[in-house]
Amino acid sequence: MYAYDDIDRAIVHERVEEFRDQVSRRLSGELTEDEFKPLRLMNGVYLQLHAYMFRVAIPYGTLSSAQLRKLAHVARTYDRGYGHFTTRQNIQFNWIALKDLPDALADLAEVGIHAMQTSGNCTRNVTADQWAGVAPGEVEDPRVWAEILRQHTALHPEFSFLPRKFKFAITASDHDRAAIKIHDIGLKLVRNDAGETGFEVLVGGGLGRSPFIGRTIKSFVAGRDILSYIEAVLRVYNQYGRRDNIYKARIKILVHELGIEKFAAEVEQAWAEIADGPLTLDDEMIEDIRSRFIYPAYEKLPAEPDELRAAAGDARFEAWRNNSVAPHRHDGYAIVTLSLKPAGGPPGDATAEQMDAVADLADKYSFGEIRVGHEQNLVLPHVARRDLPALWAALDKLGLATPNVGLVSDIIACPGLDYCSLANARSIPIAQELSRRFASPETAALIGRLHINISGCINACGHHHVGHIGILGVEKNGEEFYQITIGGRADEGAELGELIGPAVPYGEVADVIEDIVEAYLSLRQRPDELFVDAVKRLGVEPFKERVYATR
Ligand code: HEM
Ligand code: SF4
Repeated sequence: MYAYDDIDRAIVHERVEEFRDQVSRRLSGELTEDEFKPLRLMNGVYLQLHAYMFRVAIPYGTLSSAQLRKLAHVARTYDRGYGHFTTRQNIQFNWIALKDLPDALADLAEVGIHAMQTSGNCTRNVTADQWAGVAPGEVEDPRVWAEILRQHTALHPEFSFLPRKFKFAITASDHDRAAIKIHDIGLKLVRNDAGETGFEVLVGGGLGRSPFIGRTIKSFVAGRDILSYIEAVLRVYNQYGRRDNIYKARIKILVHELGIEKFAAEVEQAWAEIADGPLTLDDEMIEDIRSRFIYPAYEKLPAEPDELRAAAGDARFEAWRNNSVAPHRHDGYAIVTLSLKPAGGPPGDATAEQMDAVADLADKYSFGEIRVGHEQNLVLPHVARRDLPALWAALDKLGLATPNVGLVSDIIACPGLDYCSLANARSIPIAQELSRRFASPETAALIGRLHINISGCINACGHHHVGHIGILGVEKNGEEFYQITIGGRADEGAELGELIGPAVPYGEVADVIEDIVEAYLSLRQRPDELFVDAVKRLGVEPFKERVYATR
């Protein structure tokens, strides 16, 4: 966990008081909705279909148990008793009343949580691998660098009015769990031949109406130079990014139009002016941030404790362990993913009771720490392996042990037409229907790893382009239709999915997905050939045939 200092705390508290004043002026009618809009957006408050929506940042997806309890408190006190974890390591509250917002923010400020820069054309929440700091084989904890970036870009005057929103993601593992290739800037911590740590820097990834996979702009930028280099990229974007057309304003369009080489040359030129200047990080500064990350006092524990051996006979426990428990960098410990995708539930939702209970379990079994991943699940990052059976039993009671992490019913979905004013079609009910159809753990295990992603419109909040199966809501003559893509992926081998054919109506989506999965089961070479790999080998044709032959 990262410990905030007095400066951090003062900024957050001042902001709450400023917003309290703005809200009271809106409530009294002194400010019109139009005047209020930019002020509320600066505090993560959107106006959605039915109510205000409040988006809170969870920097690099790390939460303390006290913070999670506070989120539960906000859900219970000011909202309808639940919150929604999103693909950008945020939590959103969908039913909050304007009059309550300042109090909600003040409550969150007590535990160092805020909503600054969760909206607007600025640098957004810096996201990271949810296994950061505990994944085996990681170069080093990327959150130290995410925090450096967060501090540098928070309330940065030059980057408060960029052409468009700007998103960073960071990982230090070869297996990319942070989807760095679909972010404006993706950073991968690497070590060079001289043993120095630095970054491979990718730019121009992003989804939405024109999706792009990010390209490597520089294969090694030393850690001490990362701020000046990032600053150079942002300066080029700020200067040349298009402001005349909102659909062409993201950095991905600039990179695409200039070409990566020309863009890189511009960045080099901008960097030459500021490299080795005040933005250069010295070891002392890096150490200062690093020292404020507090790591648990791990014990020396057996990797195969008696408790685990005793529980191995329980098939339900084993099914859960197989997909929810991952190796940890310390022997005797494990990383545990808590599924927020029960059969028939809205993906990513957690009730206040569940949040409180997870906070208690984190205190008991994970040194008080919780992570939020971009797949809309929660993680307990430091669980002793001997505690796994007890933890599972507790999670099972809470409905948080659905054994589907990484499997077909672990669906990523945006809120769609149930909440979002931009939506063309519903996302959540499609996810619910699919998760019911694929609820059998045996079928799910047979199918293996398969990611379904659903967005209710072209903005792609549900990452549909990079779903192994992507589902995109479109509107046709006032009715909900869905385009289906296959073969996308969001990891280190990121690719955009390919459309299989004409859009299908709402009522047929689940059948179509079942057809695709059945086609895969009959076409795969071996039981361990993943769905995406089969699509890569075969192309879309055989799947298309299967889906449209009878339609
Ligand atoms: C309900 C309120 C929401 C609104 C009004 C909204 C709006 C938008 C818009 C307009 C874009 C396109 C931006 C662009 O291309 O310039 C976008 C992209 C995105 N949003 Fe949302 N969104 C909402 C909720 C969500 C939720 C719930 C999630 C996560 C589940 C999310 C995650 C994302 C992501 C990952 C992108 C794609 C980023 C990219 O293009 O690189 N948003 N959103
Ligand atoms: S993809 Fe569209 S419908 Fe879904 S949350 Fe984003 S803007 Fe709303």
